[in-house]
Amino acid sequence: MTKIPAFAGAAALAALAALALAAPGTLAQAPPPPPADPHEWWKHEVIYEIYPRSFADTNDDGIGDLNGITSKLDYLQELGVGAIWITPCFPSPQVDFGYDVSDYEQIDPMYGTLANFDRLVAEGKKRGIRVILDLVVNHTSDQHKWFQESRSSKGSPKRDWYIWRDGKADGQPPNNWLALFGTPAWKLDPATGQYYYHFFYPEQPDLNWRNPEVEKAILDVSRYWYERGAAGFRLDAVDTLYEDPKLRDNPVVAGTDKFGRPKHDEIYDRRLPEVHDALKKLRKVADEHGAVLVGETWTSDIAELKRYYGNGDEVQLPMNFMFAMVNALSAPAFRKQIALIEEAGVWPVYVIGNHDIVRSWNRYGDGINNDAIAKVLASLYLTLRGTPVMYYGEELGMENNDPKTQDEVKDPIGVLGWPVEKGRDGERTPMQWDARQHAGFSRVKPWLPVPASARKRNVGVETADPASILNLYKRLLALRRSNEALREGEYVPLVPDDPNVLAYLRRTKGSAVLVALNMSASLPTLRDPLAGQGLKATTGRVLLGTTLAANQTIPLDAIPLRPFEVVIADVGPGR
Ligand code: NOJ
Ligand code: CA
Repeated sequence: MTKIPAFAGAAALAALAALALAAPGTLAQAPPPPPADPHEWWKHEVIYEIYPRSFADTNDDGIGDLNGITSKLDYLQELGVGAIWITPCFPSPQVDFGYDVSDYEQIDPMYGTLANFDRLVAEGKKRGIRVILDLVVNHTSDQHKWFQESRSSKGSPKRDWYIWRDGKADGQPPNNWLALFGTPAWKLDPATGQYYYHFFYPEQPDLNWRNPEVEKAILDVSRYWYERGAAGFRLDAVDTLYEDPKLRDNPVVAGTDKFGRPKHDEIYDRRLPEVHDALKKLRKVADEHGAVLVGETWTSDIAELKRYYGNGDEVQLPMNFMFAMVNALSAPAFRKQIALIEEAGVWPVYVIGNHDIVRSWNRYGDGINNDAIAKVLASLYLTLRGTPVMYYGEELGMENNDPKTQDEVKDPIGVLGWPVEKGRDGERTPMQWDARQHAGFSRVKPWLPVPASARKRNVGVETADPASILNLYKRLLALRRSNEALREGEYVPLVPDDPNVLAYLRRTKGSAVLVALNMSASLPTLRDPLAGQGLKATTGRVLLGTTLAANQTIPLDAIPLRPFEVVIADVGPGR
């Protein structure tokens, strides 16, 4: 983790902002900012992640499908998202629920057909919702024809498309690398007596990105989907693309992992610099089609995250998982993470949950105030400078629903690692549409069970409740769209030492919005938060609040906050 003095960056930014606004009287005359670049739509839209197995089932098999997604586009439009990212929906043996692709240019029959995909794109377009697909770049399924050919003989023209090696003289695998999902990283294939390498499950052999034919094949796949209407890709597991050509052993370090294996410093099987060449090539093809690349870029090192942007010629939206790594509500912790990314001078991408980690409602919740905390979190990542990526059901406060016994587990890592590692089923349960059986997701028993809380926590019930998490998300998304400062404005941190309240300004030359988030159960008062900012307003107009009504006027010298209260107020000129 990069270490910098906690608030140095924040203070520097505030000073810069104060300089830029030296004469408060000039605010009103300032020229309007240039309109957002239409080619950079991803900077002003919210992306919504859909796990297709779990969104909506229209053919009564207990598994979601593309037609199910199409049938919910009106809901997504009303919610206010501008793009959906669908996790892999291509043919797959489903060992890793789609992340083991056996054909990159078809739709898995369980999800529908290419015609269904085309209809989804067309219907999405009518509603201003783009479709982002998921490109699994590191590996294929072992059932992919490329791998079938590759494994057939040492002389196969596709042999070098994957990473094959002889074992050591004593019959051991080529080196000590470990697969992420609990097994050794090498599997002996009896057909040729050689081992193949897999960073994830043994059914997910790694492609050999050092082979130009592999690179070309994947670039062609991306082209194929852009030409079919995909607006971009989320790139899976980008830090695993390349391995050390000498296959050196990783150093073993202290401790054991959740599968009880010795820990490794993954210097030879992960984060190799060659990935940036591959990303530049993927980006070039994306640019030819006006498409966006969203990176699955797990790191707690901002310098590493920054490298994925390249010189503006790699990934437009490398996901920043720093918030997802903070597992409790903490104003200082979030403030610090924001300062780090703001200092990096990049376009941030904020994520609080996805299909691989415990749902945010549980992760940040304190067991008592989870709903209020979910609202604070929503108000945070939807009002920061950057692109938020939501996870389906986050807008409902869906809870994690872990399997209760090992027998129930579907995700293989949960079977292998039980009970320390329960797998990822809990965060992948069906979307909760209404209070009917199976939460209105399906008419038959779904592939994963819905929790009892779904009867109260669903789209139907929450739509009717003005104070619901869902309605807060809708208001936040609508506000982002209509408010220039929230969409385009710079981020200016306020009250840098406050232990409970995270407060900041979003501001353009002509407008300013104050966001105050009480991240505690106490009753703090924000005193003069705008001091030194060169703003002449003494009162604010509430744009959105969890307690205060919209358009209410609030004094800015002292803002009392209730536990977990959110106040978003217009504090621009003229008041
Ligand atoms: C990251 C995906 O998000 C995860 O679900 C998957 O298991 C691995 N990559 C392997 O593709
Ligand atoms: Ca189905």
